[in-house]
Amino acid sequence: MTVENALRHRKSCRAFLDSSVDRKLLRTIIEQASRAPSNGNLQPWQLFILTGDPLASLKATTRDAIAQNQPLSTPEYAVYPKPLKTEFDARRFAIGEDMYRVLGIAREDKARRRAQFAKNALMFNAPVGVFAYIDRSLSYGQWMDLGMFLQSLMLLCEDHGLASCAQGYWTFFHDNVRAATGAPDDLMLACGVAIGFEDTEAPINQVQSARASIDEFATFID
Ligand SMILES: Cc1cc2nc3c(=O)[nH]c(=O)nc-3n(C[C@H](O)[C@H](O)[C@H](O)COP(=O)(O)O)c2cc1C
Repeated sequence: MTVENALRHRKSCRAFLDSSVDRKLLRTIIEQASRAPSNGNLQPWQLFILTGDPLASLKATTRDAIAQNQPLSTPEYAVYPKPLKTEFDARRFAIGEDMYRVLGIAREDKARRRAQFAKNALMFNAPVGVFAYIDRSLSYGQWMDLGMFLQSLMLLCEDHGLASCAQGYWTFFHDNVRAATGAPDDLMLACGVAIGFEDTEAPINQVQSARASIDEFATFID
């Protein structure tokens, strides 16, 4: 697969098949993703990869917490600033609306919207949960590096017929994730990444996220 095709075909998968992912393949693509560049070659990514019973248990604990309306943890970092500038807020609103439109869920149907959102807790049925941490002493530069690692990982997934979905959602459950991963306190949870095989029959996977036109974000100066 060319890089162009991997980029074109990667999307956030929100319904996975039950099929498990080969352990050796998983290790290989995670190792390959570490070829991602990083400022000063710091390689600041720290991953915990959960499968099988440990992942099932984290999903169940999180699902139960939601069902019981337990308060969410305060994320360890602000995923979005408050307030979000209008142009960004509009994009965030649009992807939500695109998803609910594909699913035929009306704006006023809060119960179904909540139920769809809650599928995050089950990692959309993915058999692999990658939890990406970063040392909390690190700065913006290293967060960029972590992003490059994660995109490399998701493109490698694509190359091997695997689907993925990055999930900032888990920052609201960082305590649960820490209990499941045993991550030391000097690490901060950046996000989760669900990995598995796409359920191509699931309507949610038909969502096509929009992109701003190049002229909105690139200025060529000759
Ligand atoms: C760091 C990060 C966190 C994300 N968190 C979530 C999440 O918690 N739940 C979700 O359904 N999608 C999540 N997404 C997916 C974005 O909504 C998605 O990337 C965006 O809408 C563009 O769509 P695409 O990935 O299909 O191209 C996340 C993406 C990134 C990069």
